[in-house]
Amino acid sequence: MLVAGNWKMYKGPAETRAFAAAFSPPEGVEAVICPPFVSLAGAVEAGLTVFAQNVHWEDEGAFTGEVSAPMLREVGVVGAIVGHSERRQYFGETDETVARRAAHALEAGLRVIACVGELEEERDRGETEEVLRRQLSVLDPHPALVIAYEPVWAIGTGKTATPEQAEEAHAFVKSLLDAPVLYGGSVKPENAEELLSRPGVDGALVGGASLDPDSFASICATAARIRS
Ligand code: PGA
Repeated sequence: MLVAGNWKMYKGPAETRAFAAAFSPPEGVEAVICPPFVSLAGAVEAGLTVFAQNVHWEDEGAFTGEVSAPMLREVGVVGAIVGHSERRQYFGETDETVARRAAHALEAGLRVIACVGELEEERDRGETEEVLRRQLSVLDPHPALVIAYEPVWAIGTGKTATPEQAEEAHAFVKSLLDAPVLYGGSVKPENAEELLSRPGVDGALVGGASLDPDSFASICATAARIRS
């Protein structure tokens, strides 16, 4: 199982070092941390397995504010998230740019967690499968590609998908693309077990609860216990 902590725009280098000093991942699970760009090198030096939160589709060029796959690899980063719903909602990320980022990162030797998921109104209108189909249609299978199913209405809201909703969505994703599928959206130590024990749930993408070393370690320990 893979458990990834998406720190979003939290923790500069000093807080990253403090986290690393307090966090010991349990055996039997792959624990990954996704800090902001300025904290990536420090996280690697502190011995964490590190993914970036985004990556550009060119190796270099006039792309203000972006970072490339070779630059990430140079500092020891081994993967990247692409297409997080916050990128799609606030920064104009589209299915097309997600596809370009994912394809280039994979080609450059990074692992990729590509995020998909429906808005609340899309679920209410019965469009969940249509949205997932559209978001996944631009991605090609690759051994280093992982999908994160993150219903947008469950991110940072405390509202989690029910284990049944997660299982159903994961099965649908897997019917379209052969890849491990992480669940994301308000995963916490208290609900990790019921979500991670469902068939087709291959790990978690954790936001808020990954900022605290004890709560992130607790979610990782649950994942390790379920898998063993
Ligand atoms: P959350 O975030 O766990 O705080 O809901 C998940 C995510 O955005 O990946």
